[in-house]
Amino acid sequence: MDLSSVEKDIEKVLVTEEQIKVRISELAAELDQHYADKRPLLLGVLKGAVMVMADLSRAMQIPVEMDWMAISSYGSGTVSSGVVRILKDLDTDVIGRHVLIVEDIIDSGLTLSWLIANLEARGAASVKVVALLRKPDAAKVEVNVAWVGFDIPNEFVVGYGLDYAERYRTLKDVAVLSPAVYS
Ligand code: PRP
Repeated sequence: MDLSSVEKDIEKVLVTEEQIKVRISELAAELDQHYADKRPLLLGVLKGAVMVMADLSRAMQIPVEMDWMAISSYGSGTVSSGVVRILKDLDTDVIGRHVLIVEDIIDSGLTLSWLIANLEARGAASVKVVALLRKPDAAKVEVNVAWVGFDIPNEFVVGYGLDYAERYRTLKDVAVLSPAVYS
């Protein structure tokens, strides 16, 4: 979906489609190098990570595997509580695997912090994180994120996988939603 189709709902564009494309290629090159002698398991967290997973995995040159988890954090609306429930688990056994969690955004960090601990407890050989976006000012727990696309301000953003009430996920850019849409 192009910006022009939802322009009235958008306050400003934070990261353009072109900027995302360039950054994804840079990240892919770094990941190719880091995992050169391994076959990492790319773990996407549904649903937001679908776009970044599709673009990042195709920009990488080394062979990778993909798997998905759906997790939901208990809590109201936009605030995650850190208490996580698995809605769809991995199909893959992660024992001895090099797992790369692929995330669209790190907000409070609570989801990720739980997920890293969970995968380590299952016996993964390594667990690392790549996230397209990170909101440093929203962090509630410190999470070691090896690769970040862009640090962004603590505003409500949509697009490139990120939704508001399941809308705007297919927008090609990352944008700040106009408060009029959700107030
Ligand atoms: C978003 C995002 C991360 C999580 C980050 O998912 O995709 O998984 O929130 O938040 P945190 O850092 O505060 O834990 P969401 O729960 O909105 O689900 P969705 O990807 O299906 O939209």
